[in-house]
Amino acid sequence: MAAQVSEEDVLLAKRIISAAERHDLPALKVLLKEGSANVQDPTATAATSPLHAAILSCGEAKDGKEADGDAVQTVDLLLQNGAIWNDLNKEDETPGCVAHRLGQKKIYEKIVEAGVRAELLFAKMQALGLSGDDDVEDDDEILEEQPAVKKQKVDKETVQVVQEAVDEEILDDVSKDNLAYLKSELRYRGHILFDESDNAVMMDWETEIMQRHAQTLIPKPGLKVMNVGHGMGIVDTAIQTHEPAQHHIIEGHPQVHQRLREQGWYDKPNVIIHEGRWQDVLPKLVEQGVVLDAIYYDTFAEDYDAFKEFSSEYVIQLLAPEGRFGWYNGLGADRQICYDVYTKVSEIDLHEAGFDTEWEDIKVPTGLHGSKQWEGTRRPYWTIDVYKLPVNTFVR
Ligand SMILES: C[S@@+](CC[C@H](N)C(=O)[O-])C[C@H]1O[C@@H](n2cnc3c(N)ncnc32)[C@H](O)[C@@H]1O
Repeated sequence: MAAQVSEEDVLLAKRIISAAERHDLPALKVLLKEGSANVQDPTATAATSPLHAAILSCGEAKDGKEADGDAVQTVDLLLQNGAIWNDLNKEDETPGCVAHRLGQKKIYEKIVEAGVRAELLFAKMQALGLSGDDDVEDDDEILEEQPAVKKQKVDKETVQVVQEAVDEEILDDVSKDNLAYLKSELRYRGHILFDESDNAVMMDWETEIMQRHAQTLIPKPGLKVMNVGHGMGIVDTAIQTHEPAQHHIIEGHPQVHQRLREQGWYDKPNVIIHEGRWQDVLPKLVEQGVVLDAIYYDTFAEDYDAFKEFSSEYVIQLLAPEGRFGWYNGLGADRQICYDVYTKVSEIDLHEAGFDTEWEDIKVPTGLHGSKQWEGTRRPYWTIDVYKLPVNTFVR
């Protein structure tokens, strides 16, 4: 049950939001000693956080003239006081979405930086076993307001209920769990590979992106190359055109193995297919002392932590000193701000793991967004205009 909000709290929330909206720094500084930078006005029809309010009131940047001075300092002040960079308003917009829509680039960059800091800190806390929920006391509240997977600070019975909710969610959407996905029924339908929950696992509008990945990773014939995740075989077909000496393919889904068989991949010279999850296959390749000139990673139903493990545990062991590593950069691609934050977070994490990253911008096909191509898919996983293609090499 949501906690009762007193009249005093509502008044304070209104005053904080109003001071943020007016970019009234002196008032806001005083008010933030009494209340949070994340207050919501429960009586407002269009609920909005102080950060949303501060950005919305800047209006559209016209003729390259962006908000400056007090507006930017207000955003800074709210972020310094813990304003949540990816909080959603009723229009399903984060503060970064609003800044992006209004063309307020300076403010947008501030939110990207705050997002990167927050995500790096969150990952560090998780690695240390700190949930970040320690100040939340009411277990009921945790159940109601947090995403299922984070609801762990509760008693045994509740854990069970929560686990059932998680399982149900996975059943409803197999892309939430790699093992569930790998057991699910796939459908190849023309230009799309679907999973059992109607998610598009792969679509052929990504062909140019796949071809460019192969080009950037394989500068000459005769190299040893590995691709993880065969999908529709688009990147593997592109890899073949660069005449590799060895072409390893790791694939975990039995139906994709079947398709590889039907399409004659097992008989192609120099192609070595490893059936199984990369988590099981790669330790064996490391043990065998396999060294590769190029590695490409594009799996499905795996989270950012899996990618981090892949790059920091395995790529560093398998890649030749002059080798190149590429990966599908699709995290957060249904929201520009999330894509920009995760592009930066991955660059920082990869640098920590020992890699430099070079980015190349590729415009996605015009007319993709909202087009018929997405018909039958659960949701469009790509809504932004530019794909940032990464090429990683060992830090020099
Ligand atoms: C997005 S598709 C790859 C598309 C591919 N790049 C192409 O050009 O068509 C992802 C593939 O990774 C496979 N996969 C998912 N998780 C895996 C894992 N843990 N190990 C190996 N393969 C996995 C999926 O079955 C699927 O075939």
